[in-house]
Amino acid sequence: MRKQIAAANWKMNLTVSEAEKLTDDLLNTGFSLHPNQQVVLGVPFPYLINVEQRVSNKPNVFVAAQNCSDKSNGAYTGEVSVTMLKSIQVTYVIIGHSERREYNHEDNALLAAKVDIALANGIKPIFCCGEPLQIRESEQQNGYVETQLKESLFHLDAQAIKGFVIAYEPIWAIGTGRTASSEQAQQMHAHIRKVLAGKYGEEIAATISILYGGSVKAANAVEIFGQPDVDGGLVGGASLIASEFAAIINSLKK
Ligand code: 13P
Repeated sequence: MRKQIAAANWKMNLTVSEAEKLTDDLLNTGFSLHPNQQVVLGVPFPYLINVEQRVSNKPNVFVAAQNCSDKSNGAYTGEVSVTMLKSIQVTYVIIGHSERREYNHEDNALLAAKVDIALANGIKPIFCCGEPLQIRESEQQNGYVETQLKESLFHLDAQAIKGFVIAYEPIWAIGTGRTASSEQAQQMHAHIRKVLAGKYGEEIAATISILYGGSVKAANAVEIFGQPDVDGGLVGGASLIASEFAAIINSLKK
C-alpha cells in the first residue's frame, strides 16, 4: 500500500521560537498515524535541526527542507547542499515548488539535477508540479504537467521512482483560497499516474504517492484526500495552525 502523507510547507514564515512552539503544539494534539501514513514538516533551513530534534522519536514524523542546491559542495555562497541536509538527518526535500520556479527561475532541467543529487544522497524528493491559471483556462494542463514530469523525472530508472513522492499544486489554487474541486484534483492525479504507468508500468505507478497542494484546509481535506489517486496533501497556510494541521493529518485515508 502506498504512503499517505500530510506534508506542511511553512514557506518563509515563523521565528525559531514560533517554529518550536508550532511543532510542540502539533505533537501535543495527539494526532494518530497508521503505519502507511506520514507527517512531513517543511521547515525553513535555520530551524531544521530544532524541529528534527523534536520529532526524531516520533514514528512516521519527518522533516523536509524546502529546497537544496544541485551542486554537492564548493563556492556557491548562500546555497545549501543535500550533504548538509543529510548530516542533520533531514529525510525529505521539496523540489520544484512553483514559488521557486517563478521567483528563482528554476527550470525542469535544473530540477532534474536536484532530484538526482537528493536521491544519490538518500534524501527523498517531494517533487512539485502544477499549471498556472492561463494554462488551466485554455485546458492545456494535462500536457503542461506531463512535460514537467518527463523533463525532470523520466531519466530515473524504475527502482529510483518506486515509492517516489509527487505533489500536484495548481498555481491558481496556492494561497488563493480557491481550491481545485475534488474532481479536478482526482482527474489530474489519475492523469499523472497514467503518465507514470506509461513509462514505468502500472505496478510501479501504483507505489508513487501523489499529494495535492493548494488551499487545503481542515474543512476540505477529507473530501480531497478521499479521492482514489490523492494520497494526501502539501499544505501551506493551514499548516501554520497546529489544530488545523492536526485535523488535516487525521483526514488522511487509512
Ligand atoms: P496554501 O496551502 O497556502 O495554498 O499553499 C500551498 C502550497 O504552496 C504548499 O506547498
